[in-house]
Amino acid sequence: MSDSLDSLREETLVRIDSSRNEAEIEQLRIEALGRKGRLTLLLRGLKDLPADERPRVGEQLNQLRQLLEARIEDRLELVKARDKEKALREETIDITLPGNRWERGRIHPLTAVIDEIVDIFWGMGFEIARGPDIEDDYHNFEALNIPKDHPARDMQDTFFVTDGRLLRTHTSPVQIRTMENRQPPLQVVVPGAVYRHDDDATHSPMFHQVEGFMVDGDIAFSDLKGVLTHFLKQVFSEKAGVRFRPSFFPFTEPSAEIDIQCVICSGYRRNAQEQHCRVCKGSGWLEIIGAGMIDPQVFRFVGYDPERVSGFAFGMGVERIAMLKYSIDDIRLFFQNDLRFLRQFG
Ligand code: DAH
Repeated sequence: MSDSLDSLREETLVRIDSSRNEAEIEQLRIEALGRKGRLTLLLRGLKDLPADERPRVGEQLNQLRQLLEARIEDRLELVKARDKEKALREETIDITLPGNRWERGRIHPLTAVIDEIVDIFWGMGFEIARGPDIEDDYHNFEALNIPKDHPARDMQDTFFVTDGRLLRTHTSPVQIRTMENRQPPLQVVVPGAVYRHDDDATHSPMFHQVEGFMVDGDIAFSDLKGVLTHFLKQVFSEKAGVRFRPSFFPFTEPSAEIDIQCVICSGYRRNAQEQHCRVCKGSGWLEIIGAGMIDPQVFRFVGYDPERVSGFAFGMGVERIAMLKYSIDDIRLFFQNDLRFLRQFG
């Protein structure tokens, strides 16, 4: 009996000391002290001993149980403390590691150019208006004095949505929408997307325009000249030459096209052998703005009396201005979202 007691003590103590986790400790507790554990069986065997040995052996068995229980408890605490320490060690954050880099966004070059254009007019007292991309025939054509058989309505140019509804082909309908709802004096610029069935290196089916107009009791062509000359010198260069050419638009009379001196060659060829500039095709001038005095017919459509009000209007293509400012030769670059292109701006 005392042999098996000794070996139980030694074996169990060794196993306790070498146990590495809670599960192992629980396992050996069951094997020693559980209902069918070795010590429990020894205790049960007491009754078979001679009566005079029972108290002494019983005492020894109880001491052993207390000893084992205490050692198991100690070991359990030790293992738990180690586990906790290990978990804490593994969870620590090394604050000396480099952080994640956040790529900073940039303003899209077209947005930047629109903002710049609008800002210049804002500085001259213009307010900003917007209109719907999906327009009706009346505002896009009819009220702008573009008759039914006008080539601008051609299926080739206009994206029709349904009968009578279309994607606006220019920002000019916002002139009509504004004048329908308000009275002069008006000084308004309209940035926005426009749509035409056209697609090559200099034409995109969706592009942007900035429209503008000024209406009051006594607006003259000289006001148009002053405003647009100031504008062009601001966006391009104070030194850039500006020229006004007679032209035609159904919604203005008289009409003009406004050119700036070519930003690439300034119209200058070093010698007769040198190639003509590709951008201005050797003319030395670039057409930038369509403009004119608002046609009396347009005023009648919005219920203004053409005898009492006058005004000018203008429209320009944003992509074209951006291409000239930044020497970009393909309009599609603006819409492909290639980061190598976009990162060069702002
Ligand atoms: N709407 C014309 C276009 O898209 C541009 C234009 C020309 C606008 C003359 C105007 C204007 O307001 O007066 O080609």
